[in-house]
Amino acid sequence: MRLDKFLCESTELTRSEAKRLLKTELVSVDGAIVKNPAQKVSSDSEVRLDGEPLSLVGFRYIMLNKPLDTICSTLAGTRAEMYPSVIDLLDVIKSDRLRIAGRLDVDTTGLVLITDDGQWSHRITSPAKECGKRYRVELDSPLDPSAVEQFAQGVQLKGEKKLTRPAQLEFISDQEVLLTIHEGKYHQVKRMFAALGNHVTALHREQVGSITLDRSLDAGGWRYLTEEEINSV
Ligand code: URA
Repeated sequence: MRLDKFLCESTELTRSEAKRLLKTELVSVDGAIVKNPAQKVSSDSEVRLDGEPLSLVGFRYIMLNKPLDTICSTLAGTRAEMYPSVIDLLDVIKSDRLRIAGRLDVDTTGLVLITDDGQWSHRITSPAKECGKRYRVELDSPLDPSAVEQFAQGVQLKGEKKLTRPAQLEFISDQEVLLTIHEGKYHQVKRMFAALGNHVTALHREQVGSITLDRSLDAGGWRYLTEEEINSV
């Protein structure tokens, strides 16, 4: 790869900014100052900017604890003018490449997975993969225990042709439950409880597949996934 391209891929610089930077003699390759933008560098080359090592941005895999009143979108729109995107909470370069693997509503909190690896993201969001998502749900009124069976059988959502796929419900109390679903229809959890005549007052995602929200992350906190977490998808 050319050195100017390497600089673009490892920083926020444009190609012309990278070329200008090279003229300042602040870039070294394997210990020698290089000014030539066309110089070839390999994966073994040690490229430094003002003494600091640079590395190419590979695929990134991030978990974030979404706070209330943030959106899972990077597109402009009315909501985008009202609320910050979760992507704005990340201090990483090239954040415009990142996509959210499974969105949450503005008033839902908890685990959001963010990546620039489209295939990995697809394995989480594709309905065919049936990736489980576990939510902690607080309800407006007490839930009848028969909801366990109803959700296991599938419920009819307004405006949908088919029943929901089997979902697993666990009671914490009669107004707080854990629900695991294996699909991701629009407002699915809220609509499932609405189908039983109840109303969700708080919704928090705790788990996606076998990736559990790290308890050490405060609302708005994030970290890179471990190899094990990445490979679990
Ligand atoms: N289901 C919902 O209703 N909202 C979410 O944010 C996620 C799942």
